[in-house]
Amino acid sequence: MKITNPELANYLQTTLKNQYQSFLFAKPEPASIRVNTIKSNLNSLKQQLENWEVPWQPHPVNPNGLIIENDFLPLSHSLPFFKGEFNYQGVASQLPVLALDPQPGETILDMAASPGSKSTQIAALMKNKGRLVLNEVSTRRLRVLIVTTLRSGGINDATMRLSGQRIGTLLPGFFDRVLVDAPCSALGTLPSHLDEISSWWSIKTMNSLANLQYFLLVSAIKATKVNGIIVYSTCSISPEENEIIINKILKEYPVEIEKIPIISGREFQNGLISYNNKQFNPDLKKAIRTYPQKSQMEGFFIVRLRKIAATKIHPTKKTMDFSPVAQANNSNVADVLKHLSKRWGIDLDYLSQFNYLIGKKRIWLINKDWQEIPQLEFNKAGILLAEKKYQEWRLTNSSVQFLKDNITRSILELNKEEIPALFKTGVFEKTDQAPGYYVLKFENELIGSVSLFNGKLKIRLPHSFDLVL
Ligand SMILES: C[S@@+](CC[C@H](N)C(=O)[O-])C[C@H]1O[C@@H](n2cnc3c(N)ncnc32)[C@H](O)[C@@H]1O
Repeated sequence: MKITNPELANYLQTTLKNQYQSFLFAKPEPASIRVNTIKSNLNSLKQQLENWEVPWQPHPVNPNGLIIENDFLPLSHSLPFFKGEFNYQGVASQLPVLALDPQPGETILDMAASPGSKSTQIAALMKNKGRLVLNEVSTRRLRVLIVTTLRSGGINDATMRLSGQRIGTLLPGFFDRVLVDAPCSALGTLPSHLDEISSWWSIKTMNSLANLQYFLLVSAIKATKVNGIIVYSTCSISPEENEIIINKILKEYPVEIEKIPIISGREFQNGLISYNNKQFNPDLKKAIRTYPQKSQMEGFFIVRLRKIAATKIHPTKKTMDFSPVAQANNSNVADVLKHLSKRWGIDLDYLSQFNYLIGKKRIWLINKDWQEIPQLEFNKAGILLAEKKYQEWRLTNSSVQFLKDNITRSILELNKEEIPALFKTGVFEKTDQAPGYYVLKFENELIGSVSLFNGKLKIRLPHSFDLVL
């Protein structure tokens, strides 16, 4: 393996010294998954893997993670994946949320959230309770985040599209915990992405990323309550994107580094306390580093900070406006819920346990911990319960998977031969049933929302695929 970018090769040699060759030739991280405890549990996932004869190993730290040495199916083509019972998430990528240690009922921010592997991990550890704000600046990546979170069945999240740097001013002292999984040079993933990273990496790009990372972290500190927790992580091995930033932050802001209880003492390295003849705050050894050549996982840096005093609030800067969230007895919501109850046979008492956000054509279901929702750049909250089509409110795949047996009408069952045919293209010829919208049943389970018009049964999928049963 040879790096064709001399600036990068030179930087890595200087930074990694005698580890340079072993880093370059490190075995890439194996595939790994994490069970989504909102929808399933580890035992049933393991049973399913055994049925498919897919070998797995436990994750070295996360009790909900599994390592998949050979994803030959692949698992992403399975119904449990479609139903959001597990997510793909890198081995090292499962660590930052363990360091954050989210608790049910808290108010938490995932500042740079797409594609959402850590967001869904946070939602599951919060047991779908409390308030989880997901932020992502890129419109294209926001769409991916929304697909991931809808599939995972979270009802405690609200998603915004803001520059993370603004959140500290818009929502000062608002959060119990903040994750800054910062955009980075991804040098920790170099052994598996050599050509891609070599094509754009330069010292200048790294420094401009470090500048962005610093301001994201400052914003996160401002957005956190006193005594709250901030976890900063990158999948980069560069001290410029990690220890140098934290060392500067420790001098300028009221935060302290804490040990990371669940992770420390394992096969990880400590954060650096010196680099290029510069000494850092000795507490940086409480940070954690992973290296591909040492623990067969991507290179990650993770530090956990506690905010120990208030940060200044700018008196003239405007903070976030909120809009109220509607309860089930709000007249607009109640009309839609009555319609849904009649059309799909859902008990109204069941629906009254939740709060709602309603627009002209969409209604979102969210947990009752949300009483009001951020107004600015708001995109999505909880589950998309239903969409209005030709005077009818149609359920969605995510709401069917959430409501399950609470739906008792308009159910259409497919068998083992029919279901793969539907997923292969998203369309399946069916002429023996009246046209309309239906809920799809397979093997005694309600799994999605389908339409049947002109003899064509259709399901909405992010992409069609050869389903593995
Ligand atoms: C390392 S990725 C996050 C991965 C994600 N946390 C996960 O585990 O699935 C960093 C994300 O930050 C986003 N981003 C870049 N600049 C940002 C900014 N100024 N504010 C918020 N997000 C930003 C990128 O678009 C990217 O999706």
